[in-house]
Amino acid sequence: MKQLKLGFFTSHGGSNMQAIIDACKTKKLNMKAAIVISNNSKSKAIKRAKAEDIPCYHLNSKTHPNSDELDAIITKKLIEHEVDLVILAGYMRKIGPKTLNKFKGKILNIHPALLPKYGGKGFYGIYVHESVINNNETETGVTIHLVDGKYDHGKTINQIRVKVLKNETPESLQKRVLTHEHKFFVDTLRKISAGEIEI
Ligand code: GRF
Repeated sequence: MKQLKLGFFTSHGGSNMQAIIDACKTKKLNMKAAIVISNNSKSKAIKRAKAEDIPCYHLNSKTHPNSDELDAIITKKLIEHEVDLVILAGYMRKIGPKTLNKFKGKILNIHPALLPKYGGKGFYGIYVHESVINNNETETGVTIHLVDGKYDHGKTINQIRVKVLKNETPESLQKRVLTHEHKFFVDTLRKISAGEIEI
């Protein structure tokens, strides 16, 4: 089976990206981190990419004010680095039409809730978990889905449920869900490369 090359998009912590990089390094995953793109030059994700010696690019609407040019350079970088699968791991921007078209069906996003619930515009970071708790949900979860032009919208390819505990705070829930995300993302990628999940 061909070793798939991964292109990461991240905006902040990059802990999901790190979990996947670690799994590649320990051969739990037969994949390779080929490139990291971040819109945020101060992100921990960029530091992680540099520490791992992964080619890393800071690209956003300041570096490329014309959105078509930004989309084009992002697509070009992914092609140059021979990316097979694009991983959105905490990326806070929409993907442009050129990239979406070139990598159709090959872009995955992780979301810390049971989509279609608690997804879309405004549902990011702690706001997702605050809403779950305010609505007295007894369970939440993690969703990995294909990416289209809308936030948190494409076809769900894998989902796990996570119980909401008594006396849970948005912060405690966020922390627990994130721990599940790390393992779940790696498991899902392993199933994709083994052909157990078709994308
Ligand atoms: C995760 O909760 C992910 O589901 C969401 O953004 C967060 C990113 O965390 N899309 P990290 O940058 O991977 O630490």
